[in-house]
Amino acid sequence: MGILEVKGINKRFGGLQALGDVNLSVAENTTHAIIGPNGAGKSTLLNVLVGKLIPDSGSVMFDGQSVLGRKPHEINQMGISRVFQTPEIFADLTVMENVMIPCFAKRDGAFRMHAIESIFSEKSIRQQADAILDDVNMTEKSNMLASSLSRGDKRRLEMAMCLVQDPKLLLLDEPTAGMARADTQNTIALLKEIRAKRGITMAIIEHDMNVVFSLAERITVLAQGTPLVEDIPEKIKGHPKVREAYLGEAQV
Ligand SMILES: Nc1ncnc2c1ncn2[C@@H]1O[C@H](COP(=O)(O)OP(=O)(O)OP(=O)(O)O)[C@@H](O)[C@H]1O
Ligand SMILES: [Mg+2]
Repeated sequence: MGILEVKGINKRFGGLQALGDVNLSVAENTTHAIIGPNGAGKSTLLNVLVGKLIPDSGSVMFDGQSVLGRKPHEINQMGISRVFQTPEIFADLTVMENVMIPCFAKRDGAFRMHAIESIFSEKSIRQQADAILDDVNMTEKSNMLASSLSRGDKRRLEMAMCLVQDPKLLLLDEPTAGMARADTQNTIALLKEIRAKRGITMAIIEHDMNVVFSLAERITVLAQGTPLVEDIPEKIKGHPKVREAYLGEAQV
């Protein structure tokens, strides 16, 4: 039994079957990648997992509890954090302040903007934020404004904002999308480090197989809304069905 168990998920948009009988099991303490070409249904599946989209049928169990029907913030409190495709950070706050906010929200259940001053003056929250910034190698940037960070560092900050909530499962939506090669390599190294340090379970949604090849223990290939193959990375690369799904793309 995995920490995340997805069974028989179906989702239609009008006449289009975006997800068709999707089954997925993510084992605790592993990194599992879900890859697929454009339009495969990756983002749709992710939106189901975080409560942004209700499927037509099927079940999603996380840590023994059903996710379906819960609001996104409730799912977050169950222990699922998500790194968005476009970093969602507070541009006018510093790196440290950005990390302190979700830390506070986790403890108090809901984030209220009027409480912002009290958040930043709390020593215990500052200590937690400090530890996370150290984990993601951003200590030296903690007083910089978030708006002044590079794209790679914004993604790193967003990861810190997720990690400070101490999630059991980190969902990453194309964590290196739009990044330069050096930032991509840094992000891959950082994810490996976080896994090793925190033993956190990760599910990565990704278009580019090469990004997840050295990261994931298992890869599920989605095509036209249906899982095509699931295996270890070495068996996925060059698999005839995967080649067919990625027809015309150089990566397989
Ligand atoms: N809200 C929506 N309404 C109608 N169709 C949608 C909606 N969201 C997604 N789709 C369609 O569902 C299919 C799956 O889309 P999805 O965004 O999940 O694919 P994806 O694998 O994330 O693709 P990409 O790699 O381009 O991000 C696509 O054909 C898409 O056009
Ligand atoms: Mg997508």
